[in-house]
Parts: sequence; structure tokens; C-alpha cells
Amino acid sequence: MNIRLATKFDNESLKKIKSFLDNKTIEERLKKQEDRKAEFLILEDEGEPISYVLLKWEGKKTHPEYLDMEDLYTKEELRGKGYATSLIKECEKRAKERGYNKIGLAVNPDKNLNARELYEKLGYKHDGGKPYVDAVYNGVEDWVIDLEKDLY
Ligand SMILES: CC(C)(COP(=O)(O)OP(=O)(O)OC[C@H]1O[C@@H](n2cnc3c(N)ncnc32)[C@H](O)[C@@H]1OP(=O)(O)O)[C@@H](O)C(=O)NCCC(=O)NCCS
Repeated sequence: MNIRLATKFDNESLKKIKSFLDNKTIEERLKKQEDRKAEFLILEDEGEPISYVLLKWEGKKTHPEYLDMEDLYTKEELRGKGYATSLIKECEKRAKERGYNKIGLAVNPDKNLNARELYEKLGYKHDGGKPYVDAVYNGVEDWVIDLEKDLY
């Protein structure tokens, strides 16, 4: 298993993970990476792209003070094998190496129970804030809460 930064040659690899990931989003993420505002990480196993995440050094609107993991995604057929867990642990390691003592992410608290349970198992806790609309995907509002974890 290998975790590395995405490059401008990775459009095909990223779409193997999530077929509907669009070029504009990929381009924007690579630009953020170039500007050192984020790291676009890809997890591969035996050369096969399996999971990705955008690790945002600038945080998110509700919590600019700590790092944020955005759009964590594992290829559908390969879920439940621990790949997202490995990617989250890698993000935590990178955060600690840079001197951060906190990291977080936003999750839909009711519709994405799989993901929420996974994060809670890894020590992520609700920050106590109210649910808010994070984005609108295809006309559907994505309601989320913020989860966060102290890094020691
Ligand atoms: C959430 C997500 C990233 C987890 O990825 P993953 O690689 O399956 O995660 P892991 O294998 O590390 O952990 C999965 C956990 O989900 C559950 N799970 C088990 N089998 C599963 C399966 N076939 N499919 C989904 N979840 C499963 C288990 O609770 C498992 O924990 P375990 O360690 O006790 O087995 C993945 O389901 C996904 O891409 N979902 C769609 C996008 C999304 O919702 N992203 C999160 C945004 S906040």
C-alpha cells in the first residue's frame, strides 16, 4: 500500500476511484496543492488507485483554525477493507509532523452513518455545533456536522 500526492497526470487514476469526479474539481485541488494550501492524497494498493482525500491546511469555513479532511472517498467495490482508515491515519501523521494539534472533517450525521461510525471509532467527536448546509450536489443540500480530534 502506498499513499502519495496526486499530480496533473492523475485524472484517470482519480476517476477510477470516483467515476463522477470532474476535471474542474481536480484542477482546483491541484492548484490548492501547488499553493501549499492542501494536499491531494491518493492511496494505491499494488498500483491500483483505491481511495483519495483532500487534506486542507487552511481548514474549513466553520473551523479555519485546524486542518480539514474533505471528500474522503474509497472505490465502491473495495470499501470495508480499512483503506479509508489508513488514509485518515496518514493525514493525522502529516498534521502532527507540521505541529498541528487538531484535525477534523464534516459528515452528514443521519444519511452517512457508515462514515460517521468510522470516524467516531477513530476518536472523532462532534464539536457541538448545529448541522449546516455544506454544499448543494445536483440540487440536493448536503447537511453536515463538524467532527474533530485532538492529536497527541
Ligand atoms: C466512508 C468511506 C470513505 C469509508 O471508506 P472505507 O475504505 O470503506 O473505510 P474503512 O474500510 O477504513 O472502514 C469502513 C468501516 O465502514 C463499515 N463497513 C464495513 N464494510 C463496509 C462496506 N462493505 N462498505 C462500507 N462500509 C463498510 C465498517 O464500520 C468499517 O469499519 P471496521 O473497521 O469496523 O470494519 C467510504 O464508505 C466511502 O467512500 N463512502 C462514500 C463517500 C463518503 O461518504 N465519504 C465520507 C464523506 S464525510
